[in-house]
Amino acid sequence: MSKLNIGIILGSTRQGRLSPQVGKWVKNIADRRGDANYEIVDIADYKLPLLGEVDATEQATAWNAKIASLDGFVFIVQEYNHSVTGSLKNALDYAREAWYDKAAGIVGYGSVGGARAAEHLRGILGELCVADVRTQASLSLFTDFENGSVLKPAEYHLANVNGMIDQVLAWSGALKTLR
Ligand SMILES: Cc1cc2nc3c(=O)[nH]c(=O)nc-3n(C[C@H](O)[C@H](O)[C@H](O)COP(=O)(O)O)c2cc1C
Repeated sequence: MSKLNIGIILGSTRQGRLSPQVGKWVKNIADRRGDANYEIVDIADYKLPLLGEVDATEQATAWNAKIASLDGFVFIVQEYNHSVTGSLKNALDYAREAWYDKAAGIVGYGSVGGARAAEHLRGILGELCVADVRTQASLSLFTDFENGSVLKPAEYHLANVNGMIDQVLAWSGALKTLR
């Protein structure tokens, strides 16, 4: 059976964001497993305007094609005002069927591990027919980032990232049979 394609989606797009560091850390852990094809999906690359603001057929087509090419997702979720970023919500809104019947895990960060944003994301994913797995890694801005800016994750997060990926792969494989 061919390997599953898993996208590690960076949820933030602001200048100076921390999400590329977190995404790279997760991808390194994932790549060491060798059990799926893992790739970083950077929302910023797609230059999505606010949905409906201007004609964005080209950007929307490219974004939908990327999401459609993936079997499952790991969302890198940062907390903005107790929720997900506007960029992530906008990107989620830009696709519909491309998300359906796939699985997702979450790696969050924030003052309380991005927990409130992660819970909001789980609600949104339900509407998009994405099955969110239980195991989650939650990084603290205070203890897992040096000076709040350089990722130095505590050792115990490794088990959560791997446990989350185990579940994403199991569910992504099962849901592939529905599509
Ligand atoms: C607009 C805004 C709102 C924020 N609100 C929260 C918040 O409600 N809770 C929290 O824990 N952190 C909050 N933060 C801190 C972010 O979680 C932190 O800056 C994190 O690094 C953002 O991710 P990014 O660097 O990838 O953009 C906020 C940051 C911004 C820019």
